[in-house]
Amino acid sequence: MTESMHDAMSLDGDVDRLRRFYDDWADGYDADVGSHGYGMPDMVASTLADAVDVLGWGGDRTAIAIVDAGCGTGLVGEALHSAGWTNLRGVDLSEEMAEKAAARGVYRAVEGGVDLTSSAADHLRGSADAVTVGGVFTVGHVPPTALVSMASLARSGGILTVSTRDAYHRETDWHGVVAELESSGQLQRLVHTANEPYTMDSTGDYWAWQVNH
Ligand SMILES: C[S@@+](CC[C@H](N)C(=O)[O-])C[C@H]1O[C@@H](n2cnc3c(N)ncnc32)[C@H](O)[C@@H]1O
Repeated sequence: MTESMHDAMSLDGDVDRLRRFYDDWADGYDADVGSHGYGMPDMVASTLADAVDVLGWGGDRTAIAIVDAGCGTGLVGEALHSAGWTNLRGVDLSEEMAEKAAARGVYRAVEGGVDLTSSAADHLRGSADAVTVGGVFTVGHVPPTALVSMASLARSGGILTVSTRDAYHRETDWHGVVAELESSGQLQRLVHTANEPYTMDSTGDYWAWQVNH
């Protein structure tokens, strides 16, 4: 793990601190995570594909409007685009990370400076057929209750796809929050796989739900 990857895990969820941290990391981010065999973006794309299959949405991937929430420099967007999901919008807290994502040329639009857990994201609520959230439900980033904000970016009946890791499950009430949202019917589970590739030295869980508002 590089020093920046280690430091990212020790953030405390403070939005201004997160923004500054990722603004500063934007130039080196791809080299740092790429050098660690970053398998997560492809896994997010294949989890979305599995969820679409479960719902029987059919084969035209370009028709599905996707918001990549916490898009960072656009690595998840790139994986989605390569898999044929081209109707992509990226949104991130950090302007510098979002600029890198825009330069990648795989998103139709990219917005930086947006805290997705706040009213700053209200214009995006209900706007997506599917929402991808890769690497954001991470220790020191957003709490499990942010699932509600992320889910609200999708239309009712849409899909929410999320990655997590064991450290996050241990250090937060992830499983409790998921159980609550599933039992209330706000999230209906479509896919969950565990111990899948994440970084070269860590595995992750991948989740997809149908969202009901
Ligand atoms: C580990 S990076 C993952 C980036 C990208 N999805 C990837 O897979 O490479 C986490 C990203 O989440 C963003 N982020 C953290 N909290 C956020 C929030 N409240 N609203 C929007 N973005 C947020 C950060 O700015 C950062 O770009």
